[in-house]
Amino acid sequence: MKFFIDTADTDQIRAAAAIGVLDGVNTNPSLIAKSGRPFKDVIVEICELVDGPVSAEVTATETEAMLDEAREYASWADNVIIKLPLIPEGLRACKTLSDEGVGTNVTLCFSANQALLAARAGATYISPFIGRLDDLGHEGMDVIAEIVTAYDNYPEIDTEVLVASIRHPRHVTDAALIGADVATVPPSVIDKMFKHPMTDIGLEKFLADWEDVPGAS
Ligand code: E4P
Repeated sequence: MKFFIDTADTDQIRAAAAIGVLDGVNTNPSLIAKSGRPFKDVIVEICELVDGPVSAEVTATETEAMLDEAREYASWADNVIIKLPLIPEGLRACKTLSDEGVGTNVTLCFSANQALLAARAGATYISPFIGRLDDLGHEGMDVIAEIVTAYDNYPEIDTEVLVASIRHPRHVTDAALIGADVATVPPSVIDKMFKHPMTDIGLEKFLADWEDVPGAS
């Protein structure tokens, strides 16, 4: 499974990239606003920090205006991919960008049917939001299972399932067991994925025992 980081905070991205576990970066308008910085500055800096895809989301809601934004964002760096909402105008833009060879990430997906439409529009990635479904009392992971199963029935679909709106480490494990391609993970959840009390206890014991080894430094 590939890991994207779900933030526009360049310090957090730099830290995760340094560990070597980062395949890409996912942003959205809310995350950009939280960074407190101009959109272009943030995206350009992120693109210099990671080699993988960096999602930059359009805010227009009409196809032609989306395409204007998309083409501008795509000119900022080779690894920018265009994030588009799962509405008819967004899928029209997705089809055009796909035909032009521009990478896309279709976002705000909440059902398998929406994901099937995005695949037909040539989306590079489909982003189902599992946490927001869980928040409504649904089982977000069921949607991931449906999408992965449906896509697997059609080998010609090469859209990758990018699990979004992840709230905790178990979401990552379950998505991987289902066979989702990518998880976009908030920094706080990446931190938790590292953690296990037995790791800390075991390391502490190994280091303490090492002190008893003759000549060890
Ligand atoms: C991904 O495409 C989304 O922007 C992000 O994962 C949403 O996460 P949230 O539901 O925690 O805002």
